[in-house]
Amino acid sequence: MNAQELIDTANALVADDKGLLAMDESNPTCNKRFAKLGIPQTEETRRAYRELIVTTPGLEESISGAILYNETIRQQKKDGTLFVKVLTDAGIIPGIKVDTGAKDLAGHPGEKITEGLDGLRDRLAEYSQMGARFAKWRAVIAVGEGIPSRGCIETNAHALARYAALCQEAGMVPVVEPEVLMDGQHTLERCCEVTEEVLKTVFSQLYIQGVTLEGMILKPNMVLPGSTCSKQEAVDEVADATERCLLRSVPAAVPGIAFLSGGQSAELASARLNAMNVRFKSRMPWALAFSFARAIQQPALEIWRGQEANVSAAQQALNHRASCNRAARRGEYSAAMEKSSATVPQLTQPVA
Ligand code: 13P
Repeated sequence: MNAQELIDTANALVADDKGLLAMDESNPTCNKRFAKLGIPQTEETRRAYRELIVTTPGLEESISGAILYNETIRQQKKDGTLFVKVLTDAGIIPGIKVDTGAKDLAGHPGEKITEGLDGLRDRLAEYSQMGARFAKWRAVIAVGEGIPSRGCIETNAHALARYAALCQEAGMVPVVEPEVLMDGQHTLERCCEVTEEVLKTVFSQLYIQGVTLEGMILKPNMVLPGSTCSKQEAVDEVADATERCLLRSVPAAVPGIAFLSGGQSAELASARLNAMNVRFKSRMPWALAFSFARAIQQPALEIWRGQEANVSAAQQALNHRASCNRAARRGEYSAAMEKSSATVPQLTQPVA
């Protein structure tokens, strides 16, 4: 492991107010999103959709790195150019999701453990050889009656730390993603409490496993009320709670925090990230960035709907969301950006 290279890559991922584009949905997740919109769920449609994303003109102005999936990293444009090369040529750093998914945690009803450590060293070597320079592993923590348990938090934190150590050994920056889920009726305060406990446990495990904090990125949830909680706090209150929680839990040596969107609307995710940067940027030890999947892709996917004729409009929508989030990193995002005629894509084919 070359520590300086890791540190340089981690810093490059959060440089220039850019962020990450998560396009690493597993095949079942991608198929589920396609099914909702009536898009055929085939290897070719997944490939065509990912080609749309990686060939979006100007994407590199807002996106520093793109997270791929095992199928996607092996795929090519119609003309035979590997997606990894398309991204690298555009100045976007390719990354790869390396966990193999969240499975039921034995003895803990309603809770999950993320798997994928077996054989990980060999898979990382292969991905690195294919051009990936960073990786992602997502742990999911559900909030509910009597959960999360210590058992769930500790096993997931341990797995995240072992994954992160293996990544750094392979020369790849680990994006460490412990996601406290939005699903449920819990309050903002409860999310804050759980997120703080999870992050403190994760950083304790990262320390025990000898992970270099300067060579990693943290990908947490924002601190939010549960999606069915009757009290939904305003944007600034979410920004305050998130910052308070992160300041208590995340060491200053970490170069960047790149939030997941977790099912928030695209506009709210941008507005909340913006509020954090407006209110706290000058006082934070880490960059406050984004690593969104749905909050960047969903509007584009809804426009595309599997139709070649909609590719250009979908790319405009994707670029628009990416630019909104770059503006949010600068604290320059506003609702007016959503109305600008220059950025509202026109459909070339009506959606059925
Ligand atoms: P969302 O932004 O859609 O939550 O996805 C982020 C991600 O990469 C989940 O692992």
